[in-house]
Amino acid sequence: MPSAIAMNVISQKNVIDWLRITAHLMHENKTYLTQLDSPIGDADHGINMDRGFKKVSEKLEDFSNQDIGTILKNTGMALISSVGGASGPLYGSFYLKAGMSLASKMELSLEDLYTLFKNGLDGLKIRGRASLGEKTIVDALEPAVESLKKSVADKTSIDEAIKKAVRAAELGMLSTTDMLAKKGRASYLGERSIGHQDPGATSTLFIFKALADSVIQ
Ligand SMILES: Nc1ncnc2c1ncn2[C@@H]1O[C@H](COP(=O)(O)OP(=O)(O)O)[C@@H](O)[C@H]1O
Ligand SMILES: [Mg+2]
Repeated sequence: MPSAIAMNVISQKNVIDWLRITAHLMHENKTYLTQLDSPIGDADHGINMDRGFKKVSEKLEDFSNQDIGTILKNTGMALISSVGGASGPLYGSFYLKAGMSLASKMELSLEDLYTLFKNGLDGLKIRGRASLGEKTIVDALEPAVESLKKSVADKTSIDEAIKKAVRAAELGMLSTTDMLAKKGRASYLGERSIGHQDPGATSTLFIFKALADSVIQ
């Protein structure tokens, strides 16, 4: 009974579920993300993420006969074309680059999953020129990518690796509260940006939570 066995691959169907659940979480947390963006931004992060992933949701049916690389590339293009805020091109670059090295793949090993996130992180960092500690998406994403790297080295199961990555993203997100923003709108506030959790780091945690929900039985 294969369903009772923890599979050590992520299927193309899991990837589509991941995007569906991400869209659901962005919708459920639209107000929360927008509230986080209110004191240190322009109160639209939830609106932006919900709009972008709604567009992705419209593509899910087409994705059913596409390989994982193509699915991720099309996700990136949907986000770039539909989101006006900074987060559109940033997450768009993430998914575009994430898909690049996975062309023609219909399933992913843990190593492939790491490659997906590492390439995505690199793409996002090139686009946003942000590094760790600047109160951005990078502060949740990079620790989670590092956690996946360690799990590959430790030959951890995919389920365990994803659980650890979620925890790393969460700790990274929480660490943004005490940071001074150096990138994006929040940076205009200088010292006054301290004491607020970063909205983008928070939406990144939802992306990891959705991955856990789609893969872990
Ligand atoms: N240069 C950047 N690199 C990485 N993330 C960034 C950068 N600039 C902004 N962000 C992220 O984008 C989030 C804001 O997104 P959003 O509100 O949708 O866009 P905008 O700032 O254009 O209104 C911030 O909370 C931050 O995490
Ligand atoms: Mg905003």
